[in-house]
Amino acid sequence: MVDVAHTRKELAAARNALTGTVAVVMTMGALHAGHETLLRAARERADHVIVTIFVNPLQFGPNEDFDRYPRTLDSDLEVCRRAGADLVFAPPVAEVYPGGQPSVRLDPGPLGADLEGLSRPGFFHGVLTVVLKLLQLTRPGLAFFGEKDYQQLILVRRMVRDLDVPTEIVGVPTVREPDGLALSSRNRYLSADERRAALSLSAALRAGAAAAERGEDGGAVLTAAHLALDASAVRLDYLVLTDVDLEPGPVAGPARLLIAAWVGATRLIDNAAIDLAPRS
Ligand code: PAF
Repeated sequence: MVDVAHTRKELAAARNALTGTVAVVMTMGALHAGHETLLRAARERADHVIVTIFVNPLQFGPNEDFDRYPRTLDSDLEVCRRAGADLVFAPPVAEVYPGGQPSVRLDPGPLGADLEGLSRPGFFHGVLTVVLKLLQLTRPGLAFFGEKDYQQLILVRRMVRDLDVPTEIVGVPTVREPDGLALSSRNRYLSADERRAALSLSAALRAGAAAAERGEDGGAVLTAAHLALDASAVRLDYLVLTDVDLEPGPVAGPARLLIAAWVGATRLIDNAAIDLAPRS
């Protein structure tokens, strides 16, 4: 069985016993094959892997799914064990925020108010605050984050750079179902019809990538992606083309196509790497 710490004290004792390179994989639980890939990537680079399982109230808005977010600790521990994790930190809320919700939170800067931040004000303040706290508590040399949450990955990288946090941030490619749906803990909210509709997101990204491969420019990439989206089945929030650091308007070279859309009552996000041909 994998070692489980529920309190800071238990975590500190278990962490002190770990020697060599330590990697952390931060999660909110409801672990799926995407998380397992993160854990295995961490396992390959580090002597020890710590997994944190914590549904962070700070990153949920008042009308979001904090209460109904899936909590599946027993099966999560089984995934951690299978993927070779050494230690799981699964604290209650009061252990992470002993003084209640913190009045000091990390400011993600202008990017934190764009894309996901536009629909979810305060989201990245909550994410970066808990990520920094978990980095302080677990003291890893490496931390692994999925590219599925691309904006989160970029902001965590910026935070670590700007605040001199001594941890290398490693991005891991998105894991997909065979039909293209990006794995997400929120997929379990989808009905069979909604799951079919959700395929529209990855189809839009594929259409955009295919247009780029044909040598078409950014405008044509976006048009192709919009055309592939089933607008009667999903409600689009954003579909944007940025550079790899999420700055607007790449005209050539490596870029990122990002999408967010509502499928019924579930908001899904996805993204893909795009290579734009040089302008002639
Ligand atoms: O990506 C997530 O699951 C969460 O945002 C994270 C990084 C665990 C912080 O709560």
